[in-house]
Amino acid sequence: MRPKIYITRKLPEQIIGDLRGDYDIRMWDEEEIPVPLDVLEEEMKEADGLLCLLTEQIDESLIERAVNLKIIANMAVGHNNIDVHSATKRGIMVTNTPGVLTETTADLTFGLLLATARRMMEAEDYLKSGKWKTWSPMQLTGQDVHGATLGIIGLGRIGEALAKRAKGFDMNLVYFNRSRKYEQEKELGIDYLSLEKLLQVSDFVCVMLPLTPETASMIGMKQLKLMKETAVLINTARGGIIDEKALYEALKNRVIWAAGLDVFEEEPVPVDHPLLTLPNVVTLPHIGSASIATRLKMATVAVQNLKEGLAGEPPRNLVLLNKEK
Ligand code: NAP
Ligand code: GLV
Repeated sequence: MRPKIYITRKLPEQIIGDLRGDYDIRMWDEEEIPVPLDVLEEEMKEADGLLCLLTEQIDESLIERAVNLKIIANMAVGHNNIDVHSATKRGIMVTNTPGVLTETTADLTFGLLLATARRMMEAEDYLKSGKWKTWSPMQLTGQDVHGATLGIIGLGRIGEALAKRAKGFDMNLVYFNRSRKYEQEKELGIDYLSLEKLLQVSDFVCVMLPLTPETASMIGMKQLKLMKETAVLINTARGGIIDEKALYEALKNRVIWAAGLDVFEEEPVPVDHPLLTLPNVVTLPHIGSASIATRLKMATVAVQNLKEGLAGEPPRNLVLLNKEK
């Protein structure tokens, strides 16, 4: 019998065609609607391999019923949607897609920083809604990016790629990370600071951490109050790292100047969410890695991991349990 693979969202045939000869493939055939939980549960009971997206919460109750499952291949670098501990305990491998999306996500993050600093979305609305009557000295003025200080929280793959972009804008670079990155300090001229100090000195703060029990709500009102009144906060990592209620209060009361968000505690973010009512927030629907080439690479890597795991080889991107604990 051929091993069974369940894929939780429609993927291009050029990606999965490769699997059809050797595996029995089933797939949730929708692009815009996530697989319902009851369908996922039934499919996981039969599957040897699962290819899922960050939209699926693969928790303990699903994992314990998946009696044949050998591998969960996430099509994302972040894997906070999967209970890695429960999977590992049952001998189920978990993989992700690091590296292939680094540059694309850094591009988007720097783009969001520029758009937020220079109020680009607000300016477009201003123009399209017919408010633009004349050029005026202080109209739609924002914050300068060049020469400003960028604080990166989480100097991993994407954090480092972001620092390289910022150097081209003559920004001063500082970072906070759980481990020191001596090589990057030398190569990029980036200084290590405590989280508190970084928040105090930065004009722009970018969060580039994974969401883990340690990083959840790492930025709350206490941290926001340390930031400059003119500071811009950018989050393209995960919503749960910043306390959204505190962020709303801080932005509304101008504790900080603006925020650019690609990620939210709840996704899709409800359209009546208070943060969406503020003019000094730029929001995107979790598109950090969304270039055609990168999404195809992520799907390809997820398939490679799946094939390796099902063939009894160590998958190239095995998530190790204690790495982020
Ligand atoms: P990465 O290379 O693993 O970098 C994460 C960095 O965070 C590492 O330097 C790590 O330190 C540091 N870190 C982890 N826990 C920490 C803690 N408790 N305190 C301080 N520093 C900590 O990951 P990446 O590839 O850059 O991706 C980062 C995250 O971005 C992903 O986990 C994902 O959630 C998010 N992401 C979002 C999008 C999007 O579409 N918006 C796209 C891609 C990724 P060590 O070096 O000591 O481990
Ligand atoms: C996207 O958010 C990812 O983690 O790959």
